[in-house]
Amino acid sequence: MNVVVKVLLTRPLHDFAVKELRKLYDVEIHTGKIPMPKNLLISKIKNKDGLVCYPYDRIDRKVIDAASQLTAISTYSVGYDHIDVKYAEKKRVVVSYTPEVLTRATADLTIALLLAVFRKIGNGDRLIRKGKWKVIFGPNEFLGTDLYGKTLGIFGMGRIGKAVSKRAKGFEMKVLYHNRTRFSRKEEKRLGVQYCGLEELFRQSDVVSIHAPHTSETNEVVNLKLFKKMKKTAFLINTARGKIINEKDLVFALQKKIIAGAGLDVFSKEPIDFNHPLSKMENVVIMPHSGSSTVETRSKMAEICVKNLILSLSGKKPIYQVRKIQS
Ligand code: DGY
Repeated sequence: MNVVVKVLLTRPLHDFAVKELRKLYDVEIHTGKIPMPKNLLISKIKNKDGLVCYPYDRIDRKVIDAASQLTAISTYSVGYDHIDVKYAEKKRVVVSYTPEVLTRATADLTIALLLAVFRKIGNGDRLIRKGKWKVIFGPNEFLGTDLYGKTLGIFGMGRIGKAVSKRAKGFEMKVLYHNRTRFSRKEEKRLGVQYCGLEELFRQSDVVSIHAPHTSETNEVVNLKLFKKMKKTAFLINTARGKIINEKDLVFALQKKIIAGAGLDVFSKEPIDFNHPLSKMENVVIMPHSGSSTVETRSKMAEICVKNLILSLSGKKPIYQVRKIQS
């Protein structure tokens, strides 16, 4: 007798991906409110073998405990701080994710934010649209900052951090980095980067870009103490996770001109409110969590996400399996 394998998707995915899944499994797709309400998730996951989830779905003990048949979780993201990986492992649930395919797109958006804050792109766009462009080209009109010769500090030198550093080198920037583990001198030379402590990174950089994972160690680790170490002319970029920053401290630092500005793709709570102070500040460029959001990348993520799930459900190793974060 053929056993029917059941899979839950907490949101629709690309048609080609769903088609692949439907060839093999009984697929249920949540099409209502996003994120899928917790109670509904808990009731729907009860008889499922596999789950496809997204960075905003909290897959905690309660969800995992409700899922007595579950053997595979495949998240459509590189981040997995929304999943209790340790507990899933304990329950013998394989957790997989979609790194690598989104590295370039996320690094590109980081550079876009960096350029936007250095060259005031949002401000210029708003100025013209509001009909306020009155004074033509002049020595002191609309001055931004050169990237050339400036120091970029990368906090979290994984795949995306390295891709950002490679791009920054193209703009002839100096790159410092801080990471849990320091690379060998040979690797640092190859990458053209210098290691320094976290405080030093914030002190020396003209722009700090965050690429660390969100863990209990990095939660709100970027706070007023670090902002106070920064140059008054320095910028902060975040395309990683909002909760790595203490957002109230960031607002304060920006309002009090402790730092010059910020380019943000991620926030403590998403979507941010229309009235959020960050969305009112002229020295801030904001994006709606779209680091990996290109047609090509999102499609590749869907492909990997589905392959990961299929491999895990057939007892094989997925392409990218999450290991619990070593602290
Ligand atoms: C991820 O993949 O974790 C991103 O934050 C989603 O774009």
